[in-house]
Amino acid sequence: MKLPYAEPFRIKMTEEIHQSTRAEREQWLKEAHYNLFNLKSSQVFIDLLTDSGTGAMSDKQWAAMMTGDESYAGSKSFEQLQETVHKITGYTYLLPTHQGRAAENVLFSVLVKEGNIIPGNSHFDTTKGHIEFRKAHAVDCTVDEAFDIDNLYPFKGNIDLDKLEQVYQTYPKEKIPFCLVTITCNSSGGQPVSMENIRQVKELSDRYEIPIIFDAARFAENAYFIKTREKGQENRTIKEIAKEVFSYGIGMTMSSKKDGLVNIGGFIALKDEHLYREASNFTIIFEGFITYGGMAGRDMAALAVGLDEATEFGYLESRISQVEYLGHQMMELGIPVQQPIGGHAVFIDALRFLPKIKRQEYPAQTLANEIYKEAGIRCVEIGTLLADRDPKTRENRYPKLELVRLAIPRKTYTQNHMDYIAAAVKNVFDRRSAIEKGYQIVWEPNILRHFTVKLEEI
Ligand code: F0G
Repeated sequence: MKLPYAEPFRIKMTEEIHQSTRAEREQWLKEAHYNLFNLKSSQVFIDLLTDSGTGAMSDKQWAAMMTGDESYAGSKSFEQLQETVHKITGYTYLLPTHQGRAAENVLFSVLVKEGNIIPGNSHFDTTKGHIEFRKAHAVDCTVDEAFDIDNLYPFKGNIDLDKLEQVYQTYPKEKIPFCLVTITCNSSGGQPVSMENIRQVKELSDRYEIPIIFDAARFAENAYFIKTREKGQENRTIKEIAKEVFSYGIGMTMSSKKDGLVNIGGFIALKDEHLYREASNFTIIFEGFITYGGMAGRDMAALAVGLDEATEFGYLESRISQVEYLGHQMMELGIPVQQPIGGHAVFIDALRFLPKIKRQEYPAQTLANEIYKEAGIRCVEIGTLLADRDPKTRENRYPKLELVRLAIPRKTYTQNHMDYIAAAVKNVFDRRSAIEKGYQIVWEPNILRHFTVKLEEI
């Protein structure tokens, strides 16, 4: 009998979580203005809001915490991190930041100017936020396969070369500071970008003299998909694959809260000293001195170990197989999910799940709230609320997909939790025809509204 995969770790410490009653959850949701970001974690049984900074660290990472060097300048922990980042990415210059969006803020302060165009594959919302905040535009060049949830195309994070070339032909190169490749592509469903596609994007961009920058939050998961799905890559290590990927860019922004396997942190890594010098000024203004940039020495020490562990095949196999296990269970129960299952999350198609809810009543938010009411599971809307309003017309932007994301924290929940989640979603699915009304907005901020928006039931 073929042995199934099993986690290459055992559990040394646990944290209690609590069940609640449906009546309690209904009350809490109302008090939270029907926005799951407003719930207290004590009101949540299984928290699938995000896989960002919510995972468990290894004993070696905890041990590294104790060795953290808290010197303001020239910390040993910074050196360790720099060495590891260089080993994994090939990039020489490192600027730590307190998280991924801070890396975007620092780097884009140098590179992005008003009126600029930044093509890429479905930019993440904070990335887009940092681009639009600078009155520049993000152009989504993701392949069309990504928007058909039943299409089994193995690299739905890929960039469509025709769409990209269209952008390069429409605007002068002075207006396009870089092409942003997000690995894996969170907004298209945690979907990977193939090595072949990255090579082609590099070749095309070279012809137009446009550099590539990676948003590398889940680069290790992306490398796992390249290894397991792409012909000719199966015998390479994750680290070899990652290094080749990074070789095609001039640098990266990183949210260490994902594939850094830590609870807080981020960084910029760069090939070029000149760009590093320019970005250093903004690091000092926004984040802190260039050898800590908003991170404690102990957090940099844990991150150095985390990056190493995240780029090991055994860890990635158990990580991605757990997400797949949940996704396949849902598929067997008839629940419409994005296929193939993504690296860090299962994405449910809310338009198919709740066809009676109009787009302007936020079907994905409606479904996320129903799943919470059903079983105390918190997930997140990746739909119209997240897509926000057009900065010029202030009209709702309706994205091609209206999804609910069930993001799985790393090394945190067990297979029994996955079974519980699938059963809960199935119960909502069974009563879906009785869910006829969605929500309307009563208050929203000007930008990144989904975090703080207040809603009421229609
Ligand atoms: N890029 C990608 C692809 C991301 O998924 C995120 C965060 C960021 C950048 C920003 O990093 O949170 O450290 O500031 N994604 C989280 C999520 C929040 O839930 O998907 P950050």
